[in-house]
Amino acid sequence: MTDPLFDLSGRVAVVTGGMGQLGRVYAAGLAERGMRVASFDVTAGDPPDGVRAYEVDITDRAAIERALGEIEAEWGTPHVLVNNAGLDSPPDAPAEEVGPFEDLPEAAFDAVMDVNVKGTLLCCQVIGGAMARVGRGSIVNIGSVYGLLSPVQDLYDFRREAGETFVKPVAYSVSKSAILNLTRYLATYWAKTGVRVNTLTLAGVSNDQPAAFLEAYAARVPMGRMLEAQEALGALVFLASDASSYVTGSNVVVDGGWSAW
Ligand SMILES: NC(=O)c1ccc[n+]([C@@H]2O[C@H](COP(=O)([O-])OP(=O)(O)OC[C@H]3O[C@@H](n4cnc5c(N)ncnc54)[C@H](O)[C@@H]3O)[C@@H](O)[C@H]2O)c1
Repeated sequence: MTDPLFDLSGRVAVVTGGMGQLGRVYAAGLAERGMRVASFDVTAGDPPDGVRAYEVDITDRAAIERALGEIEAEWGTPHVLVNNAGLDSPPDAPAEEVGPFEDLPEAAFDAVMDVNVKGTLLCCQVIGGAMARVGRGSIVNIGSVYGLLSPVQDLYDFRREAGETFVKPVAYSVSKSAILNLTRYLATYWAKTGVRVNTLTLAGVSNDQPAAFLEAYAARVPMGRMLEAQEALGALVFLASDASSYVTGSNVVVDGGWSAW
């Protein structure tokens, strides 16, 4: 039996970055719950079952509008928007991107802010605007513990011990902090339209990281391990569904206790 509180069947979702590690889990998880799901990603990739992939760069408003037009014509206005697409500096990022704060290239900062902040804003303008016009919707903006708190630079000591210069860069943290207040702004702006807007803040997700990193991370987090991608789904379903009908402007933190000490 489906609990009507959490029932999403027959509704429409857009998941940005739906071809990435977490985006695939969200898209597949929502499709398994009976939603019609569109992924907006720079790559159409090989979508999970029941997910339709649109090649959309979320920094391009016209591309978002085009894809939304196709979805609305076939499925109607989306009920759920998961703003999940994001850039971080990967472990193999160019040395200047993970060097000292004082030397971070402006272009590296701009690239992260462009996708994580402006891209999220544009999806809210276009898709959230359509939701507001029909008088309902739930937007979930994906945040990070690194947007609540500073990154713990010590977690990367193992890289420095191996002779690398490595500083976890500032742009990602700044961008994820911006998400918290974009959420609050829009939650109040749209509060009376029936569109709810919340942040879902996650800690680091397990993804074949080096053993030295996993060990340092486990020691830092009360639950003693990283998040498994599937564990982000419960909170997403809660925020997407009517179970959270009076929840807006909030930040649901799924971090194994990271921010509790
Ligand atoms: N993985 C983690 O440890 C972690 C922790 C906290 C928060 N998050 C957040 O979760 C989200 C997903 O992270 P992930 O680990 O799955 O990352 P990922 O790199 O696996 O996926 C991100 C996806 O976004 C897409 N993307 C990038 N730029 C885009 C653009 N301009 N337009 C459309 N799509 C674009 C990429 O192609 C990719 O498929 C991000 O917002 C990230 O900040 C991740």
